[in-house]
Amino acid sequence: MGTRFKVNGRSVDVNADEAMPLLWVIRDRLGLTGTKFGCGIAQCGACTVHMNGAAVRSCVVPLAAAAGANVKTIEALSPDRSHPVQKAWESCAVPQCGYCQSGMVMAVAALLESNPDPSREEVDASITNICRCGTYQRIRDAIQVAVKNARHG
Ligand code: FES
Ligand code: FES
Repeated sequence: MGTRFKVNGRSVDVNADEAMPLLWVIRDRLGLTGTKFGCGIAQCGACTVHMNGAAVRSCVVPLAAAAGANVKTIEALSPDRSHPVQKAWESCAVPQCGYCQSGMVMAVAALLESNPDPSREEVDASITNICRCGTYQRIRDAIQVAVKNARHG
């Protein structure tokens, strides 16, 4: 028997070294490739997923730590890209190359879940993901649009 947990609502039982980073389990064992590898040392945020509702950098979460957890990846943030953050990202045309963006979206979605109307300082303090294309201004704008969308439905 391997390590059991839920991914996107589905129960999985993964036979792998318990020290394997959750990122590799998600990508290589479960085939969910929307979550990206950037640095592998918890610096860039490209690998951000939700674990029990909180944003985590899956490159530094060992498989053992996911036992019994509920993990959500970008593939299941919404069934049809209708999450307020996804809609805001689309309307503000945030991505450039796109590589960092699933991690950004997951980080912002978790922030708005815990703090539906963050101040600019709170956004800057909690969204520390790195974008090599420098889309930070559009990210800040899109967060404001997402806050408004979520408020007005
Ligand atoms: S790949 Fe995980 S933080 Fe960069
Ligand atoms: S859009 Fe290219 S790294 Fe962020």
